[in-house]
Amino acid sequence: MDHFSLALIPGDGIGVDVVREGKKVLDTICNIHGGISLSYTEFDWSCEYYAKHGSMMPDDGLERLKDFDSIFLGAVGYPGVPDHVSLWGLLLPIRRQFQQYINLRPVKLLKGIQSPLVGKTSEDLDFIVIRENNEGEYSNIGGRMYEGTDMDMAIQNSVFTRKGVERVLRYAFDLAQKNGKRRHVTAATKSNGINHTMPFWDEYVQKINQEYSNVTSNTVHIDALAAFFVSKPETMDVVVASNLFGDILTDLGAAIVGGLGIAPSANINPEKEFPSMFEPVHGSAPDIAGKGIANPLASIWCTSMMLDHLGHPESAKAIIETMEEVLQENVVTPDLGGQATTEQVGDFICEKLKTKLG
Ligand code: NAI
Ligand code: MG
Repeated sequence: MDHFSLALIPGDGIGVDVVREGKKVLDTICNIHGGISLSYTEFDWSCEYYAKHGSMMPDDGLERLKDFDSIFLGAVGYPGVPDHVSLWGLLLPIRRQFQQYINLRPVKLLKGIQSPLVGKTSEDLDFIVIRENNEGEYSNIGGRMYEGTDMDMAIQNSVFTRKGVERVLRYAFDLAQKNGKRRHVTAATKSNGINHTMPFWDEYVQKINQEYSNVTSNTVHIDALAAFFVSKPETMDVVVASNLFGDILTDLGAAIVGGLGIAPSANINPEKEFPSMFEPVHGSAPDIAGKGIANPLASIWCTSMMLDHLGHPESAKAIIETMEEVLQENVVTPDLGGQATTEQVGDFICEKLKTKLG
């Protein structure tokens, strides 16, 4: 019996609803597969917590999280608290302190979903984006001067280190070698306009590629790459990108395979020295919060990624297959054109899992 302890941080808005459904699916899998047991500890860290305590989490928050096997997060952010406060107060410290330097974001068209790209099938839309998650453009190095005067100015620096770049590239080439359908790495760049960090990045793409003789690679400018996601997504296999480029590309990636309601992500510490964190790509969606119609599939897909990471690929696969069945039967929330509620989708997946595997 494998036992894992999970930290749940539902967060704000629809984060709370979708984590509830994800947990339901995890419980169902554990009841069916006698080989896994999970214990949960829930943390109420969120913008609501901020309103009460003046911080997104307590001072010893990271210390309290560090011994869990995984963290399952909904979303944080809510009107009233500036987004940079909620992000830098909770999410980014977790990603950074726990060296979750890999952000995995599958772009995979599940059966039962129609891509907005006419004529593209599940065969064409099946790749993974690896976003560098610890440095790059999202650095808090910089500052603001002369505020309130006509000389008002702001500077934000990018940080690209040899260590940071090499490890994310190596992860991408490894993945392409092991799982890639085409054994190809596409690296996002912008070395024409950004003339220090991006040529540095490109140089390491070449260098790391030399360690993988059976993997091919190319570097593509981010603007062209964005267009290729739409015009020829079938040429993608493993896409690797810096923090900002990966962030933007993966919302586009989500849009071509069914939207944010279904897009999962995993913040991975490959060394397993710290917990990894699993969270949907979407945010707290204040526009639909409290309405019971948030799509729980992104969050449920995250539970599959978590089980995979924890060494239970067969349970991970069962969740994806069941999601595909539910999609084909069209029991989906309004964002996918259906009428089901968040809870109904979660319950239906659990019922199906029970009849299939129970
Ligand atoms: P968002 O992802 O929350 O919403 C964008 C649009 O997608 C909205 O129209 C929303 O209704 C829809 N949507 C998102 N998830 C959905 C789901 N599961 N089912 C159905 N529809 C869904 O992004 P937005 O509006 O830019 O940000 C809202 C808040 O969330 C902000 O405070 C932002 O900082 C925060 N945020 C937090 C993230 C995180 O915690 N990882 C990631 C992105 C945003
Ligand atoms: Mg994003």
